[in-house]
Amino acid sequence: MANLELAQLDAVEWLKSLPSASVDLLITDPPYESLEKHRAVGTTTRLKVSAGSSNPWFTVFPNARFAELFSEVYRVLERNSHFYLMCDQETAFVAKPIAENAGFKFWKPLIWDKCTIGMGYHYRARYEFVLFFEKGKRKLNDLGIADVLTAPRVRGGYPAEKPVALSETLILQSSSAGGLVVDPFMGSGSVGVAALKLSRRFAGNDVSDSSLAHARARFAQVGGHEGRLFAAADADPAGQRRLALVRP
Ligand SMILES: C[S@@+](CC[C@H](N)C(=O)[O-])C[C@H]1O[C@@H](n2cnc3c(N)ncnc32)[C@H](O)[C@@H]1O
Repeated sequence: MANLELAQLDAVEWLKSLPSASVDLLITDPPYESLEKHRAVGTTTRLKVSAGSSNPWFTVFPNARFAELFSEVYRVLERNSHFYLMCDQETAFVAKPIAENAGFKFWKPLIWDKCTIGMGYHYRARYEFVLFFEKGKRKLNDLGIADVLTAPRVRGGYPAEKPVALSETLILQSSSAGGLVVDPFMGSGSVGVAALKLSRRFAGNDVSDSSLAHARARFAQVGGHEGRLFAAADADPAGQRRLALVRP
């Protein structure tokens, strides 16, 4: 039985194709606008693409699209669920009110402590944020976990790759075995690897060919069986063709 479904679309367009209230947990790490700033001063990882490419970076997802993104994230999530957004401090200030406007309760930024210092001229960078949002009311599975999550940074991997261990904590805290975890900007698939390792199902999406190839290879190593988690369904009343979730 399939435990994995992948797509290669614009994140918002893909989310629009998913049924409402079908996702147990959404964790994501969009290529936020301020990455461009880090790039300009050489403080972030270069995207590895063919030498012939004129743009060796992610296509940035503009802050101006956060409203449509968060409203789709809110719609696809189950009634009582969590949403984690990985970002830097600059994006956090922009994203928080837009996500609240979409209906989320903002609890706090979790700190991802990368254990070693990186680049930067105004105190060397050692952490990033994981913004913790809630739809409805959902208790964390373990109330004893601290809001600082320690996981060594990934070196030499996919650009901006996050450690699997970081997502493992979030998944253990905010979903149950068999639940559906989603990442619309999956990159190397670190969220999906964590989900599959922990016996969750995973639906992932990314616009990039290299992401799909890279993530697919990783998922195969942790028991990923690709197939349909969402089956074709009739158009909803608004005329939008949506998919229905196939329950395991
Ligand atoms: C910061 S990376 C994600 C890294 C990932 N968390 C990991 O651990 O590897 C952002 C990803 O978003 C993808 N992306 C950029 N624009 C997109 C869009 N409009 N829709 C979907 N994916 C997009 C990029 O190709 C890139 O793989």
